[in-house]
Amino acid sequence: MKSTFLPLLLAGLVIFQSCSNKSSESSESTTETQALKIEKTDFGKLPDGQTAELYTLKNANGMEAKITNYGGIITHLTAPDSSGVFDNVVLGYDSLAGYLKSSPYFGALVGRYGNRIAKGKFTLDGKTYTLAVNNMVNHLHGGTVGFDKVLWKAEPIEGEEPALKLSYVSKDGEEGYPGNLNVTVTYTLQKNNSIKIDYTATTDKATVINLTNHTYFNLTGAKRDILDHQLTLNADRFLPVNETLIPTGELKPVAGNVFDFTKATAIGARINDPKDQQIKYGGGYDHCWVLNKKDKELSLAATVYEPTTGRIMEVQTTEPAIQFYTGNFLDGSITGKKGINYPKRFALCLETEHYPDSPNQSAFPTVVLKPGETYQTTTIYTFSAKK
Ligand code: BGC
Repeated sequence: MKSTFLPLLLAGLVIFQSCSNKSSESSESTTETQALKIEKTDFGKLPDGQTAELYTLKNANGMEAKITNYGGIITHLTAPDSSGVFDNVVLGYDSLAGYLKSSPYFGALVGRYGNRIAKGKFTLDGKTYTLAVNNMVNHLHGGTVGFDKVLWKAEPIEGEEPALKLSYVSKDGEEGYPGNLNVTVTYTLQKNNSIKIDYTATTDKATVINLTNHTYFNLTGAKRDILDHQLTLNADRFLPVNETLIPTGELKPVAGNVFDFTKATAIGARINDPKDQQIKYGGGYDHCWVLNKKDKELSLAATVYEPTTGRIMEVQTTEPAIQFYTGNFLDGSITGKKGINYPKRFALCLETEHYPDSPNQSAFPTVVLKPGETYQTTTIYTFSAKK
């Protein structure tokens, strides 16, 4: 698939077919006419008897995304290397059972509030809300049963750029948050080898919201750790944290310290700096960078380059910040897809979002959503390769 002519030819030949129930999990795209079809297969049963489904989206170049409506999880995502060979670049499991047993949010949609809220408490319009404390002394990623562990309603949308629209109604009081929240998340596999994620939500009571996706990327195709991946972040400042990873409130310049990724730098170059207290708190990078941008514009946040395969991932977002997490808590106890074991720093997450603990820090951009307003954010992960 080196030539740029072939994808164009395939696009021209596409015939739209209706969603089928084929049970094959095969990743080969066999004929031109199947290129943009969305396949639906059973992914397994939840403890309450409901069935999770797995949808396979393909674009005309042969890129493939598998997404389940359980947690809106991206279970498989392929990207081309410098020779045009597609390989899976995300961590996860081959079956639902793995995700049900233990998953550090592999590929999942995270909400109602992605990242941490200090001590699981916040006050809104004079009322204090109490949330689950599920990460040291804090609330993390929406609580005990966050959006990553619920079944979403799925609507496949076939076309030149196939999409999966997921919706979920989070009830007033669910996980302690106020307001019935109607959420939709649409994943679109675009022609230029990108996966676009559009998030929208409305509420019937003032609430707080911070949605993100928690995919663990490894651009080598899970062949080795991510320490040689080179990262560029379009961010001159980051948010220092306390020992429980709650921002102190300071927006600290990255200049002159190990958080400076304004120029492409190997992730492993400074990750073990023994003198850096922030690195010590995170066990590596587990921090939020404040993006250089104008209010809510869709702009480039991050670029990752993997030198052995030539793969490149660019992240664009309308969000003001990005959590860069280097899989510090992976410890080899998880064996994922294809029997591959996941040791420490075997993947990186680039979670686009608002600042952690914003509900308790009034100087941070607001995360309050009120009735009558629509929450709307977009993030795009685009894949290419250096020839
Ligand atoms: C957090 C990490 C956490 C990981 C998995 C990241 O967003 O910042 O501290 O370990 O998610 O839960």
